[in-house]
Amino acid sequence: VPILTNIGCLATCASPAGQDDIGVIHDAAVAWRDGIITWVGPADRVPDEHAAGPVWNAGARLVTPGLVDCHTHLAFGGWRAGEFTSRISGASYAEIARRGGGIARTVRDTRALDERALADRAAAFAAGMVELGITAIECKSGYGLDVETELRLLRAYRRVADETRARIVPTFLGAHVVPAEYRDDREAYIGLLVEELLPRVRAEELAEFCDVFVEEGAFTPDEARTILGAARALGLGVKLHVDQLTDGGGAALAAELGATSADHLEHVSPAGIEALASAGVVAVTLPLATLYLDQDPPPARDLIEAGVAVAVATDFNPGTAPSYHLPLALLLACTRQRMTPSEALKGATRFAARALGREASWGAIEPGKAADLAVIDAPDVDQWLYHHRPNACVAVVAAGRVVWRMDRLGPAQPS
Ligand code: NIG
Ligand code: FE
Repeated sequence: VPILTNIGCLATCASPAGQDDIGVIHDAAVAWRDGIITWVGPADRVPDEHAAGPVWNAGARLVTPGLVDCHTHLAFGGWRAGEFTSRISGASYAEIARRGGGIARTVRDTRALDERALADRAAAFAAGMVELGITAIECKSGYGLDVETELRLLRAYRRVADETRARIVPTFLGAHVVPAEYRDDREAYIGLLVEELLPRVRAEELAEFCDVFVEEGAFTPDEARTILGAARALGLGVKLHVDQLTDGGGAALAAELGATSADHLEHVSPAGIEALASAGVVAVTLPLATLYLDQDPPPARDLIEAGVAVAVATDFNPGTAPSYHLPLALLLACTRQRMTPSEALKGATRFAARALGREASWGAIEPGKAADLAVIDAPDVDQWLYHHRPNACVAVVAAGRVVWRMDRLGPAQPS
């Protein structure tokens, strides 16, 4: 029975309600067996049966649930730094896409890589993410846009799941944009998704969710209804990229389709917020994408006040969010989305797990949940996100095993 003790501040996130309720216990300890948490409480009250195993000392630091990045496009070929500099010079994301750059550029670079190469790149990113305290990653396809490459991306994620310490939740995003070769026959591409790709994804059990990018230049709400209706009939969960560049009524659509999450939402309308609240859809905000596209942030305060659970994720991808630094995204959620550090943490743990249908097992520190923990060199959550560092995480436990420790722990940051 391993135990982690001398935790200065334990943010349990044990309550399913309340964006800012992170369930702090001071001077705490956590015990687990076979990867599952068995006991949580004050360090001076550890029951005898938990006092016998290996003891890890958190050095009076902050311990949070392993962070959950509930929205990434982890596997892709190439990069797009040239578009980054073009946007700085004034080109818009939509213009670049119309010129054949953007997603289409990455599709060309992704089709050129085999499964092994895609998995190696994604696994390297995943390893970097684990060092930041992330123990679970949602991973979308969507840079293949043909039968072979979409399946290859999802099979690459299966390898990443087997070969890294991170837990992986794969999502099928064949409906990212219509690929160039179907530009004049959108219906044929949607037919390919519904009649060929989705059944194969289902038969090989390659994805848990199906996602659609609803936007001008991507898919219409009606097309999303067709694709996601088929996905649902096969037993996949529903996610949507919506209201990112324009208000396309995407939030209401997510509510109508019973989506698990609606993601982006920079342009969500007040009616859309109400729809998300009454349908219990998680709003996934992506502050790094907002930052890189220099947009106004989504109305996180209005969402929270309406009773919507707000998650925060990276959206890691080569176009709109070329960074997998989830703690940086949390800092931006604080300053740009006016979320408190506690609210941001809840959005990258319990509510992120909810956005993946995994709230019963991940995202909180309580008996019965997975022993996924991040040890952070800060006395509390406010100080952690306020004093931003390249990496404040000093150790990570995943499924009960210490999977990463900073080489030189060094002294704690001055308090
Ligand atoms: O989540 N919005 C659509 N898809 C991605 C960006 C993809 C890309 O530019 O490569 C996103 O922002
Ligand atoms: Fe995305």
